[in-house]
Amino acid sequence: MTELKDVAKLNGYTMKQLAENAGIKYTTLASMAKTDVSQWKDDAVLSISEVLDMTVVDFKNVMTGSMMSPFIKWVGGKRQLLPELIKRLPKTGFNRYYEPFVGGGALLLRLAPQRAVINDFNPELTNAWHAVKTDLTALSELLVEHQENDSKEYYLDIRGLDRVNRFVELSSTERAARFIYMNKAGYNGLWRVNSHGQNNVPYGAHQKLNLVTDSLVNVSNYLNRADVEIRNGDYRISVVDADTGDFVYFDPPYIPVTQTASFTGYTQDGFGLVQQEQLRDLALELASRGVNVMLSNADVPLIKDLYSDKRFKVHHVTANRFVNSMASGRGKVGEVIITTY
Ligand SMILES: C[S@@+](CC[C@H](N)C(=O)[O-])C[C@H]1O[C@@H](n2cnc3c(N)ncnc32)[C@H](O)[C@@H]1O
Repeated sequence: MTELKDVAKLNGYTMKQLAENAGIKYTTLASMAKTDVSQWKDDAVLSISEVLDMTVVDFKNVMTGSMMSPFIKWVGGKRQLLPELIKRLPKTGFNRYYEPFVGGGALLLRLAPQRAVINDFNPELTNAWHAVKTDLTALSELLVEHQENDSKEYYLDIRGLDRVNRFVELSSTERAARFIYMNKAGYNGLWRVNSHGQNNVPYGAHQKLNLVTDSLVNVSNYLNRADVEIRNGDYRISVVDADTGDFVYFDPPYIPVTQTASFTGYTQDGFGLVQQEQLRDLALELASRGVNVMLSNADVPLIKDLYSDKRFKVHHVTANRFVNSMASGRGKVGEVIITTY
């Protein structure tokens, strides 16, 4: 069981401050903290969750140690935006949850839906999700080996595996361990390959690695307990079987804040203006099939034109996140959450 004072501290509160902000007497909070969260009154759980900016479900998960968070750092990770996304989920609930650009899957892991389809076109990434689901014991052993050996030289050696024939000899679990290790030891959680498919991300500054966490085990248990299908391919194909009552959350590569000529033509990640338009059209097509769609993107002027159709609702929100890899690009930027319901 997690200690309330630790959860409070992680969120920048002492127990006294938490009690004050939640409108609970400090002595009451202190004695509650000695008991299991399941025994606390609902209104107390609600006000504590609100102060900590968590949903009640998340707060209870944190307190019972069953919290899940992404096992990789991923550019465009949605952790900061989660409260805003959660507020705007369809009120009617949903049958199947689809996340066609899953990345680290921050929203999936927060909601832990019973039936889900996740997809990404990065094969190393979906292979890692697969290994977490199907081969956790072997994966964990390999991760421990990587973290014990971690150094710049070791990283470069592991990185270089895709430049020699040894790569094809790796098992899928070995490839997954390499991916997760490199994601945590490499610069800023980037995953970048050159035109030959060879990774070229430099070693990054980091603290001692801790790759096998309780959260990783929880994620693995969840992927097995629930009906979660992992697909690898283009986002459009991954939603062909989405049907009435299902919910799709699209978190595509964002429209750049400053659009250059390359955005309207060809972009490195293959996601330019044409692709943004195709995604918009697909959202409308899904909506006409009775699927509820939520999308996120950068709050740039182009959004207004792109999503001018009356069937879209555009919500403007702000979140702390990386805009690009330059320090000057960090900070609060506007984002939009678009829904078809
Ligand atoms: C903004 S990130 C998603 C971040 C994710 N929501 C999270 O919380 O980590 C976009 C993802 O889309 C994937 N992607 C890019 N183009 C794609 C395509 N055409 N089809 C499927 N996935 C694609 C990228 O590999 C990347 O993982």
